Amino acid sequence: MLEGVVYLSYPHVMPWPMLILDINRAVERHHLTQGLTSVLLFRSVWILQYLEGETSRLSERIGVISADPRRRLLWSQRQPIAVRALPRLAMGYIDVIREPAFIGDNDLNEISGWREDQADRLRSIMITAAKAKYPRAAE
Ligand SMILES: Cc1cc2nc3c(=O)[nH]c(=O)nc-3n(C[C@H](O)[C@H](O)[C@H](O)COP(=O)(O)O)c2cc1C
Repeated sequence: MLEGVVYLSYPHVMPWPMLILDINRAVERHHLTQGLTSVLLFRSVWILQYLEGETSRLSERIGVISADPRRRLLWSQRQPIAVRALPRLAMGYIDVIREPAFIGDNDLNEISGWREDQADRLRSIMITAAKAKYPRAAE
């Protein structure tokens, strides 16, 4: 079964570029071999991520990420999906402050609410932004 998970976390570790580079090294090791596809939206204080893949592979990777001491998980919402939203994107990175063009003004305001009951809306904001930045992600 295919599933997608949306989660919000606060990183403990700075500086940002090094954390993002570290995440990307892990992505290179795991996402292609495990068939995981994802996008990560961030600004200095929070990271919002959407990750999709086969149930067992997703569970394994979420277990590893959840145990990562570099960040605190605020909430996560996981649900079955019929098809992948981003089948060609192992990982996309969007800095919401430096790359506002990929996110509508209203959507940016909504992100600042970041509550679990907004997970569906946040998922669609992330997917829309990923498709805008990486046009081939959904091919
Ligand atoms: C906010 C955050 C998001 C992460 N997202 C991913 C991810 O999507 N995929 C991944 O493989 N590792 C991700 N990581 C890194 C993992 O927590 C972990 O360090 C890494 O997967 C371990 O890989 P290794 O066993 O090959 O060293 C993330 C880490 C943080 C702090």
